[in-house]
Amino acid sequence: MAQSDALLQAAREGAGERELLDIDLPARFRAAFTRKEEVGIFEGETDKDVRRSLHVGEVDMPELAPDECVVAVMSAAINFNTVWSAIFEPMPTFAFLERFGRRGWNASRHDLPYHILGSDGAGVVVRTGAGVKNWKVGDRVVLSPSYVDEEDHGSYDDGMMSETQLAWGFETNFGSLGEYCIVKANQLIHKPKHLTWEEAGSNTLCAATAYRMLVGSHGARMKQGDIVLIWGATGGLGSYATQLVKNGGGIPVAVVSSEAKADIVRAQGCEHIINRNALDLGEQGLRHPKAGRVLGEAIRRLVGEDPGITFEYLGRETFGASVYVTKRGGKIVTCGSSTGFRHEYDNRYLWMRLKSIIGSHGFNYHEAVQTNRLFSLGMLHPTLSKVFPLEGAGDATRAVQTNAHIGKVAVLCGATAEGQGVDDPEMRERIGEEKLNLYRR
Ligand SMILES: NC(=O)c1ccc[n+]([C@@H]2O[C@H](COP(=O)([O-])OP(=O)(O)OC[C@H]3O[C@@H](n4cnc5c(N)ncnc54)[C@H](OP(=O)(O)O)[C@@H]3O)[C@@H](O)[C@H]2O)c1
Repeated sequence: MAQSDALLQAAREGAGERELLDIDLPARFRAAFTRKEEVGIFEGETDKDVRRSLHVGEVDMPELAPDECVVAVMSAAINFNTVWSAIFEPMPTFAFLERFGRRGWNASRHDLPYHILGSDGAGVVVRTGAGVKNWKVGDRVVLSPSYVDEEDHGSYDDGMMSETQLAWGFETNFGSLGEYCIVKANQLIHKPKHLTWEEAGSNTLCAATAYRMLVGSHGARMKQGDIVLIWGATGGLGSYATQLVKNGGGIPVAVVSSEAKADIVRAQGCEHIINRNALDLGEQGLRHPKAGRVLGEAIRRLVGEDPGITFEYLGRETFGASVYVTKRGGKIVTCGSSTGFRHEYDNRYLWMRLKSIIGSHGFNYHEAVQTNRLFSLGMLHPTLSKVFPLEGAGDATRAVQTNAHIGKVAVLCGATAEGQGVDDPEMRERIGEEKLNLYRR
């Protein structure tokens, strides 16, 4: 058995600290990565197929810094940032690695001709750095992608306000899409015990981003009775936003693109659903200046009021409509621009009606822990729809790139099959497979 397999197998089988420490850390392991020499391969092409740029192969085990841990990754997940990385847009992530590397000290390890991607995952701690005190080998963990330097004073009010904050596996190397990854100790969170590896490892990035946007003290701070318009309600972010709005006593208005997706949000308890493909928008679609009116009328017909909060991340296609439909004094909270970064909107509807736009990015460690606590309590559920083997990381990313997926897509790394890693089957039974597998039916 290869060295990397022996440690992975022991981690998978629940070996204790002593046993795991007795097995050597492998010098090389398998991971999914992009190659610096391939930046530019998509120039002039319209379909930038990520399966061409995402490779699976062996990489070197990096050296461990004192504040870090090596985690044997059982399962990772695809986020939209994996798509951005794999198409080298809006800029090649190698530029992030070079910039990070210039910080010196342990950061220089990250500046390599390959980039191991992946910002979500779950697994077992197999080594801890000399300065790690709260975590030990054998701990079963979920990984938070928020990479914060604890020596930076800017991170003490809110980790996201630190100038040195980075998205792990996107702006750093050694991400989750591999048999092993390197994380700082302040990225570790106890794994919700009733979830499988693939369920636990697919939530944090999107769920905690949605938590900060809607619930936490830095976002829109949703109140009971708030009407919240959620674009892409069965997408990565949207699938958790719908649950958070329901949990907090808000009223979600879910936008989806098919009746099958409408059925899923209905099963999540969402009563007000708009199929954007059924709206009469004309050729320019949602981008047309009149689209806001059509959408706004549809929302009023459903709930009788305008949304107080609009949950945005699509950007160019939808932003004008989002600004228009949000109610007087309402908030448009945005964390992305999937359809284009340069937005156009009629500013009169913003200032004359006293609305505000809130920019939101990621989440701090506390928000990541609070979000995972909701999973542990059974108040949030995974939205996993499909699981791929590590060799299929390109296909998994392609599904997200082409919007062929719903909810989240996972990639098994150290886990040998779906369904492994459940430590609390009783709680799982209490919640019920129906709720846990809603996105897989
Ligand atoms: N800043 C941050 O911290 C942060 C964190 C997470 C994600 N993001 C960003 O947020 C974006 C979404 O991420 P995600 O993981 O939720 O992606 P996702 O899983 O691909 O979901 C996006 C959803 O958008 C909807 N959609 C796609 N094209 C659309 C269009 N033209 N008009 C209206 N709706 C459309 C789709 O639903 P329907 O087809 O059913 O409408 C889809 O479910 C990405 O750009 C990502 O980079 C940012």
